[in-house]
Amino acid sequence: MNPKIVSFVTLKGGSGKTTLLMLTSAAVHNRTNKKLLVIDSDPQRSVKQIYMQENNNAKSYDVFAFNWNQPNPDENFEKVLTIAKSKYDLIFMDLPPGRITDAPIYHSILRSDMLIVPVVASVLDINATTIFLESIPEVLKEKKKSLEVYGVINKQDQSIEYKHLTRLSGVGGMQLFYSPLSNLVRYKRGISTIHDITTPDIKEDEFNMYFDEFCTKCYIF
Ligand SMILES: Nc1ncnc2c1ncn2[C@@H]1O[C@H](COP(=O)(O)OP(=O)(O)O)[C@@H](O)[C@H]1O
Ligand SMILES: [Mg+2]
Repeated sequence: MNPKIVSFVTLKGGSGKTTLLMLTSAAVHNRTNKKLLVIDSDPQRSVKQIYMQENNNAKSYDVFAFNWNQPNPDENFEKVLTIAKSKYDLIFMDLPPGRITDAPIYHSILRSDMLIVPVVASVLDINATTIFLESIPEVLKEKKKSLEVYGVINKQDQSIEYKHLTRLSGVGGMQLFYSPLSNLVRYKRGISTIHDITTPDIKEDEFNMYFDEFCTKCYIF
């Protein structure tokens, strides 16, 4: 097996990495036959906590919490990934916020096929996202690595700032998804490792539109 590895990354916290990863994971788990592993590299362990709280592991995808605060974490990470690649069809990584040179982010990005960057339209978030995106090509070039970088507009509302987000398109090679996710209470309340946020048959549901795009770009189905 040669599973696709997708990392959810941003410089700043609070942009929706964990939310987007969990919504996407539940949909993959419930709507496809792909065997999914989520590697939780964030010391906050949000995914792992919800996985444990739901206490129904047989019904969810697998979650593995990786501790970067250990001797030679990158060697152990490589070992974990080698085993994971032989067992799963798809691997998602939840990362702490930070710079591309931070160990968890650096080593995860270098092993990823695809990055998902949730993009929020506040001035501080846009600046942070620009800095993050601009740092990607340098690292990739150094390692002669290529990957796909996709931005997903998150927490979209009526504010004027959202109209300016298209200028992030192309920065660091990032392409923006067509389908944004709005600022909705359901994304706060509906987080689960077991239950899908919605049923797949409602075509006009914005999450379904996002998920279709995700599957196409990730060659799921
Ligand atoms: N589209 C959304 N609509 C409403 N709330 C959201 C949305 N996306 C994320 N949130 C909320 O924003 C906060 C930060 O999201 P989180 O996924 O933890 O970000 P990160 O992992 O990037 O730090 C959480 O309280 C989450 O519930
Ligand atoms: Mg998070």
